[in-house]
Amino acid sequence: MIGRTSKCESKNIFLHAHHSLTDNFKMTVEKNIHDKLGIITFDQILSMKTDSVIALAHPNIAFIKYWGNRDEALRLPANGSLSMNLGALSTTTSVEFRSDLKQDDLIIDNVNAPPAALQRVSSFLDILRERAQKQHLKAIVISENNFPMGAGIASSASAFAALAASASRALGLELDEGELSRLARRGSGSACRSIPAGFVEWQMGRADEDSYAHSIAPAEHWDLVDLIAIVNDTHKEVGSSAGHALAGSSPLQASRVADCPRRMQLCRQAILKKDFSTFAEIVELDSHLMHAVMMTSSPALLYWEPATIAILKKIRDARLQGLQACCTVDAGPNVHVLCLAQDANQVERLLQTIPDVATIYRSPAGGGVQVLA
Ligand code: DP6
Repeated sequence: MIGRTSKCESKNIFLHAHHSLTDNFKMTVEKNIHDKLGIITFDQILSMKTDSVIALAHPNIAFIKYWGNRDEALRLPANGSLSMNLGALSTTTSVEFRSDLKQDDLIIDNVNAPPAALQRVSSFLDILRERAQKQHLKAIVISENNFPMGAGIASSASAFAALAASASRALGLELDEGELSRLARRGSGSACRSIPAGFVEWQMGRADEDSYAHSIAPAEHWDLVDLIAIVNDTHKEVGSSAGHALAGSSPLQASRVADCPRRMQLCRQAILKKDFSTFAEIVELDSHLMHAVMMTSSPALLYWEPATIAILKKIRDARLQGLQACCTVDAGPNVHVLCLAQDANQVERLLQTIPDVATIYRSPAGGGVQVLA
């Protein structure tokens, strides 16, 4: 369960991350493995002492954005980035490697994944299989999100963070946090930030070896809340991976990247000092810079909808009136509104007055990736 309210519901639900295996997930694993292998119960799966490993990871929201790669294949970013893990949202993934399978199998939210998703996961697992010298093994990967995939909340960060942790453990690889973060980066750039806990910095590094994320403060450091305003939208978007490849075609990308160390420093200090005013200004500036690059790339990417702008203006006006809240927008029309926990109800009520805000998800900062079983 996650913090989710709709405009029709007056109830305000606030639930923290679920750090144990949910019954639901147990049933999903049981059913899918039963279908594939004829095994009956989850406890039997655990007692079989197979190579099956389960891990949980949270998605994250970037305050200083990753946009553009200097090496597409290795996902080496054009600039460093800073984020917060979203503790109320999570992906739980079970991986089992077997020698009797002809190909990898991927089930997401109880449905066989489309070929493109399976291909991306298989290519990622190939990196691990090669490292472990176990190229003959194929995997059954079963993944479940506690937030709807169609809600516009990027799931690739939590998905590849959970997969990196479960698959590496299942293959017997002993990786430290930095190595795991580097590995998750190869699946999805932002996934490297979902490995460490709380408030996280991805140092761009000079090469594969030093491009990984580390925690700058634990989740408890600052009671910041992310209210994710989901905007009604039927528009088909260009995904992040395709978007990164276009960043360099914008004449603005070079100056966005050149100024990034300054924004990183300001944002890092604002987080460490819990200085919301500085934080708010730099977070909005960084998001606007990324969207300026998106809008001026060729072809141009225009993710904002009228409701996106309505939220940006409403929150900016409220901040001028003294409310401590600010906005950041990823590769889609939904707006992440950041505020302190004490102001979250007030900010949420404000968002509920905006037409076309369909649903609002709420999350505090969360921990790092965990291997559950
Ligand atoms: C706008 O990490 O989703 O959310 O590496 O292709 O999976 P891939 O891209 P991804 O890009 C995230 C882009 C962003 C900004 C951010 O999270 O930093």
